[in-house]
Amino acid sequence: MAHAIPLLPAGQLQRLKEQGRQPLQFVLNGQPAQALQGDTVLTAVLTQSAQLRSHEFAHSPRAGFCMMGACQDCWVTLGGEQAGRKLRACSTLLQPGMQICTTAEAVAQATATQVQP
Ligand code: FES
Repeated sequence: MAHAIPLLPAGQLQRLKEQGRQPLQFVLNGQPAQALQGDTVLTAVLTQSAQLRSHEFAHSPRAGFCMMGACQDCWVTLGGEQAGRKLRACSTLLQPGMQICTTAEAVAQATATQVQP
């Protein structure tokens, strides 16, 4: 008898608790997205996506490693008014309207529109 393989939702992380927090809107790679107030950027992205980013050289999927700001595996790039600024997704709280770029295309677009000081 064949066993049914459960379908996995798109997100790497599944929210099991604290689902009653206030929703928080942000932009992920140019698309509107929703997380919950108090989420880190890493949590917000990984509840929507199977990976946080791609490795710069090997292009392998990355999802953070230490989750405490030490390994630097979770750098993402901001778009919008802070275009091109990089931050550690695991140790940064998501802010309303934050524009997060995790794909090479989104990062290239954000840095192309970066305002020079
Ligand atoms: S996951 Fe290690 S610094 Fe963010």
